[in-house]
Amino acid sequence: MNGDAVVQVEGLHKRYGGGGPEAVAGVDFAIQRREIFGLLGPNGAGKTTTIGAITTRIRPSAGRVLVDGIDVASDPVAAKLRIAVVPQLSNLDRSLTALENLTFHAAYFGARRRERRERAREMLQLLGLGGRESERVNNYSGGMAQRLMIARALMHDPHVLILDEPTTGLDPQSRLFLWDKMLELRERGTTLMLTTHDMVEADRLCDRIAIIDHGKVIALDTPRGLRRLLPAEQGLQLTVERAADPAAVFAELAERVETESDGEGRWTVRLYGDGDRPDLAGEVVEAIRRSDAELVDLRRIEGSLEDVFVHLTGRELR
Ligand SMILES: Nc1ncnc2c1ncn2[C@@H]1O[C@H](COP(=O)(O)OP(=O)(O)OP(=O)(O)O)[C@@H](O)[C@H]1O
Ligand SMILES: [Mg+2]
Repeated sequence: MNGDAVVQVEGLHKRYGGGGPEAVAGVDFAIQRREIFGLLGPNGAGKTTTIGAITTRIRPSAGRVLVDGIDVASDPVAAKLRIAVVPQLSNLDRSLTALENLTFHAAYFGARRRERRERAREMLQLLGLGGRESERVNNYSGGMAQRLMIARALMHDPHVLILDEPTTGLDPQSRLFLWDKMLELRERGTTLMLTTHDMVEADRLCDRIAIIDHGKVIALDTPRGLRRLLPAEQGLQLTVERAADPAAVFAELAERVETESDGEGRWTVRLYGDGDRPDLAGEVVEAIRRSDAELVDLRRIEGSLEDVFVHLTGRELR
């Protein structure tokens, strides 16, 4: 079945000590080779716990995780060679230089001295830290430290890179830079998994997304597939001028017509169809041509990933 799955999470449960509900209550998913897989969910949904089970930091109450077919609980050493994780909070050694942070990490993984330095220089270059390798991490800004953690994670050439909220707190430049890097890594053959509360980021980067809530996967699809879960997907928004009665012009075409005037002769009209008209846009243009109105703008109304997220998980604070 999951022939090309790099990570398989099967029937995962985790109940922390001290009673309480399960933090992870039966999670299954498979991450395919060379995809960027997003794990989204409200605070406390169980994302970090799930990541912990994959990286062997957390022992599941039930279920198992396979990485490249290796059960991470029975062979954690082999599993760890294949996975790298960038935690949400920095765990760099701030008293060391950037280069040292990377070479020490590689030494832990058994790389030879010369190899370590070469690889470290290459990774620092890749993450845009080429000129700053001999500086202590203490002098690094938050954004630079974040990039350094990714450089460090890549030192042992993992098959799977797991990033826990990689762009939280970064400026737009760093965020865009990291987006490019993640896409570049996927091109080079790395499989990525990330958690984020940034819906634009998830939409832009992820090939598939699992939304989890209360320890369970409640949806898993491509960003586009997830948007189809919204009730009002079949919408068009148009801006027209010189329309005497825009509601009447479009009444025939849609199930629901909403109109809004700017008080200066310009109308915004939203049409929600029933899915029976595959060329609604064409029909709208025709209807306008037959009337005296002038079309200024026409676009499809698409719910955002945030709309989907709220639709599925509700508005209640966790
Ligand atoms: N070490 C722990 N001991 C006890 N309970 C824990 C522990 N770690 C997490 N939990 C609980 O498990 C549940 C899931 O937490 P988890 O950290 O996996 O959520 P999350 O989805 O990563 O949330 P966030 O978006 O806030 O990071 C929460 O109810 C949390 O309080
Ligand atoms: Mg978390």
